[in-house]
Amino acid sequence: MSLCMFYRNLNNNLLSKVSTIMAKRQSSDMTTFKEVLRSAKNVVILSGAGISAESGIPTFRGAGGLWRKYQATALATPGAFRENPSLVWEFYHYRREVAAKAQPNTGHLAIAKYEEKHATDKNITVITQNVDGLHARAGSKSLVELHGNLYKTRCTKCKEVLVNTDSPICEALAGKGAPDSAQIGSDIPVKSLPHCQKASCGGLLRPHIVWFGEGLEPEVLNKAEAAMSACDVCLVVGTSSVVYPAAMFAPQAAARGATVAEFNIEPTPATPEFHYYFEGPCGTVLPLVLSD
Ligand SMILES: NC(=O)c1ccc[n+]([C@@H]2O[C@H](COP(=O)([O-])OP(=O)(O)OC[C@H]3O[C@@H](n4cnc5c(N)ncnc54)[C@H](O)[C@@H]3O)[C@@H](O)[C@H]2O)c1
Ligand SMILES: [Zn+2]
Repeated sequence: MSLCMFYRNLNNNLLSKVSTIMAKRQSSDMTTFKEVLRSAKNVVILSGAGISAESGIPTFRGAGGLWRKYQATALATPGAFRENPSLVWEFYHYRREVAAKAQPNTGHLAIAKYEEKHATDKNITVITQNVDGLHARAGSKSLVELHGNLYKTRCTKCKEVLVNTDSPICEALAGKGAPDSAQIGSDIPVKSLPHCQKASCGGLLRPHIVWFGEGLEPEVLNKAEAAMSACDVCLVVGTSSVVYPAAMFAPQAAARGATVAEFNIEPTPATPEFHYYFEGPCGTVLPLVLSD
């Protein structure tokens, strides 16, 4: 066995031992978690697509992960946009329309109410991987949108970022974007897709979203990391914890001694690393935990 393999095996063994020890210590006792939360000063709520599932917005992993014949994760890439901007804009037009019709659910609302109630005695930061804008619509104030927002565009030429809630975002996308697998791409000419309105530019617009293979904006990442490193309690809500760098935020907080509680309908690869695990739809469980 090579030295490198020896160390990798050693590392894996150690990790699985730590996970086993943590799993043994893991609790689903809501009363004790609520006590810990009550005395916390700095709280982070880290959310993923699962929190919006009960608002009718499909997650990427699981049943809703296909749009037409495509894995959603395969369209959310710079390569897909370069190759077929019409198809990617159709996909995002569909997602914009779905999210615009959706309403924040009891999970989003419980978080916003909790922030309001503790506005003077706790620092609460909501860090979301979601791009649907539902946390903001629910009233969350201290919000870090790690992966951008469906209702922002970025010019591929001059890089200007603008809020855009037009429906449809351009005439050519009206009635397009249907998700069923029988649909074929409508091959909208690039000149009819959304373009920068600045006369001096006129570049093609793209969704202001961090796609797979792209880095997070440094200011956004700094804000998230500052909140994560200061928190004494972190709630990880509805995320599969597989998309980096967000996937390492909560395990890192747990490793330095913060109390981390996960809320999901099923265990994730990160579950063994956390102190608490609460299974169930977060629209039901979060209001119970955050009610006082
Ligand atoms: N709503 C959105 O904005 C949206 C939707 C899909 C994907 N995305 C993007 O895709 C990436 C995917 O990562 P992710 O971890 O956020 O999502 P994901 O799709 O990988 O995982 C969703 C997680 O939510 C859990 N879940 C589903 N329903 C739930 C419920 N009712 N209550 C609690 N948990 C529930 C699932 O078990 C799963 O672990 C992110 O980068 C995100 O930006 C965003
Ligand atoms: Zn421009």
